Parts: sequence; structure tokens; C-alpha cells
Amino acid sequence: MAEISVRKAEERDVQEIAFLETVCFSDPWSVESVYHDVVENKLAFYVVAEAENKVIGYAGLWSILDEGHITNVAVSPDYRRMHAATLLLEMLLKTTEDAGIKRHTLEVRAGNEGAIALYQKHGFKVFGIRKGYYRDNGEDALIMWRE
Ligand SMILES: CC(C)(COP(=O)(O)OP(=O)(O)OC[C@H]1O[C@@H](n2cnc3c(N)ncnc32)[C@H](O)[C@@H]1OP(=O)(O)O)[C@@H](O)C(=O)NCCC(=O)NCCS
Repeated sequence: MAEISVRKAEERDVQEIAFLETVCFSDPWSVESVYHDVVENKLAFYVVAEAENKVIGYAGLWSILDEGHITNVAVSPDYRRMHAATLLLEMLLKTTEDAGIKRHTLEVRAGNEGAIALYQKHGFKVFGIRKGYYRDNGEDALIMWRE
């Protein structure tokens, strides 16, 4: 199994993160949006996972007062179920908790069982549902929080 490491995202990672967006999501963020969050947005914190000298996953968060709003977690299909997302989430949560963030939240598609299982393993619980939240297929969003 490939060795996976995680670190803070940098400007040089923007293209690889944007590529992963297109591979992992039906409504991917643009390169410009990724650039803004990774490079310019002072409230954003992004981490990447690397294996075999390439970026194979990333996760991001916005700090809003003492809350961490997780924007995205994604891992290349070739490297899934190797605990890359686990390493990414652990770094994201620990770093921001050490910086004073008290609660974390995220939205996830109600049918995304893998991601929901991942978040539950990290202490997230469902606190609400946004009906028909996702415009592409009308899917509900689960709102999860971790205290
Ligand atoms: C969800 C996603 C990030 C998981 O990445 P990953 O690196 O494969 O996750 P991990 O290997 O760290 O999984 C940790 C645990 O989460 C759960 N899990 C992860 N993927 C799962 C799946 N497809 N089915 C069921 N459980 C899953 C398991 O409990 C797993 O532990 P285990 O493998 O020891 O059983 C990845 O599948 C992905 O990028 N999906 C597309 C994008 C997406 O949906 N992102 C989340 C919404 S923002």
C-alpha cells in the first residue's frame, strides 16, 4: 500500500486540488475558487494528502468565529479506503482546535453513505436536514456537527 502523508496546502497545490474536484464531485469548484481559498482567504485552512509524489486528497475549512465549517473532503478514487481522508480530517480538526475552534460543522449529501460513515467516526452527528439542497439532483443535505 502506498505511503500517505499530510501537510498544509500551498499555492503550488491549487491545480492538483482543482483536478481532484473535477474527479470527485458532480459540481466541482473552479480553479479560481480553489486558488482564492488556498492562497487568499485568510479564514480558510486547507490540507493535502500526498502519495507517490502527487496530491491524492485534500480537505478544507472556513473559520467563522469559533466554528469550523468544513468545505470539502476528497480523495482520488485510486487511493480510497487507505485512510487518507482520516489523516486529512485529523489534521484539519486538531490544527483548528488548537487554534481555538470549538465546534465543527459540514453538509453532506444524504445518500453519501461512505462520507457519512467517515464523519461519524470522527464524532460528527446529524443535527438537521436541508430538503432538496443540492441543485443538480435535488438531493437532501444532512447538517452534521461535532462538539
Ligand atoms: C468520502 C471520501 C473522502 C473517503 O475517503 P477515504 O480516504 O477513502 O476514507 P478513509 O479511508 O479515511 O475511510 C475512513 C472510514 O470511513 C468509512 N468509509 C469511507 N469510505 C467509505 C465507503 N465508500 N463506504 C463505507 N464506509 C466508508 C469507513 O468507516 C472507513 O474506515 P475503514 O476503511 O477502516 O472501514 C472519498 O470516498 C471521496 O473522496 N468521495 C468523493 C467525494 C466526497 O463524497 N466527499 C465527501 C463530501 S464533502
